[in-house]
Amino acid sequence: MGVAAVVPAAGSGLRLGAGMPKALVRVAGVAMVARAVDGLLASGVVDDVVVVAPPEHLDAMAEVTTAGRVVPGGPDRVASVALGLAEVRDANVVLVHDAARCLCPASVVASVVAAVRAGHGAVVPAIPVADTVRRVDADGHVVDLVDRTGLLAVQTPQGFDAEVLRRAHAAAGELRATDDAGLVEAIGGEVVTVPGDPRAFKITSALDLAMAEALVRTELE
Ligand code: C5P
Repeated sequence: MGVAAVVPAAGSGLRLGAGMPKALVRVAGVAMVARAVDGLLASGVVDDVVVVAPPEHLDAMAEVTTAGRVVPGGPDRVASVALGLAEVRDANVVLVHDAARCLCPASVVASVVAAVRAGHGAVVPAIPVADTVRRVDADGHVVDLVDRTGLLAVQTPQGFDAEVLRRAHAAAGELRATDDAGLVEAIGGEVVTVPGDPRAFKITSALDLAMAEALVRTELE
């Protein structure tokens, strides 16, 4: 009865244009998925990690992921998380973490777990939005200025009381939220935030990858 983490990495990762699943792309020589798994375990608060991989890349994913288990994913993100969740039946706290946020500091993992342990059913790390945000119409014309007060950008790992997350997934049906906290909200659950960290940014573009490599090198110096 401990803390398990599910890392849904079964997407194609086409946006990064590497011709392979994004989680296999190396950041300063180490695959993102391996960095993500090692980071979770190095936090000292995670007991078990399950990586959900594209079925056709299972072996490649298992080869780079020396810690944790690797299982095949489903047709979309929600299905892949559900398959990972089925592998961690004994856990009472479940984290869901993007492989692409592979430089997330251990302190963020620890504070998410602590907040779940303190009694919150769903916890997301979040940071203030730095840019001015405007809503536009289909032609790109500004419709209104979105007040930045009270706006936070949500990161991962997201942490859940295992029962809450299981109920949210059982109710998901055709609902396709972009994150698991969204599924909890959909069943009327409360989601709280803890401070995230800029280093937990999501590697999506070639620029993000370059920034991640620079960050790793800086931390090694
Ligand atoms: O492609 P997208 O950005 O929506 O993917 C979000 C996350 O969900 C990625 O980490 C991706 O690997 C994962 N995913 C998955 N199974 C799928 C599709 C996406 O685990 N079938």
